[in-house]
Amino acid sequence: MSALSSQVLEEIKELPAKYPQPRSAVMPALDLAQEELGHLTPEAMSEVAVALQLDPGYVEGVATFYSLFHLEPTGKHRFYVCTNLSCMLRGANEIVAHVKQSIGVTHAEQVSADGLFSYEEVECLGACEFAPMMRLDHKYHYDLTTERVDQLITERRAPTPLTPTLSPGGERERKPRAPRKKKADG
Ligand code: FES
Repeated sequence: MSALSSQVLEEIKELPAKYPQPRSAVMPALDLAQEELGHLTPEAMSEVAVALQLDPGYVEGVATFYSLFHLEPTGKHRFYVCTNLSCMLRGANEIVAHVKQSIGVTHAEQVSADGLFSYEEVECLGACEFAPMMRLDHKYHYDLTTERVDQLITERRAPTPLTPTLSPGGERERKPRAPRKKKADG
């Protein structure tokens, strides 16, 4: 039995036609696989390689190089909290501490007991004017406060949204940038 659904495999097979270089389809293909499974298993990576007719080592190399791809299980909703300078100066550390406490984890990569959440600290996401900010569920969330974090968590724990999708100072239209993992100090 294959790791990826036939529907996703079909979508992946159609990707190379959209790019001048067929191997450029590997990133969106891995993104589709990850979206379906939550993280990239060895089986999923090898199915992506077969679907794109690429060397499995190349596909695995891409998956392991970029931090937006996860090789271990992550929470269904992942907080990518920017802790670069502008966000740091405007309270990013407080936001990180609040996220950790609210979802019940002690460190990045740990998944909350209900399987819904995990977080990581990332480099600048290019929205410094709205610091502190983060990416969550493919959207940027700006001008964060601990209350706003609570609201976002509550919405995702509830089966139906409690508030409109767009709220003042909350989510604005901007194409999310792929998060870059924070480098370890030292
Ligand atoms: S420093 Fe956080 S978005 Fe630039």
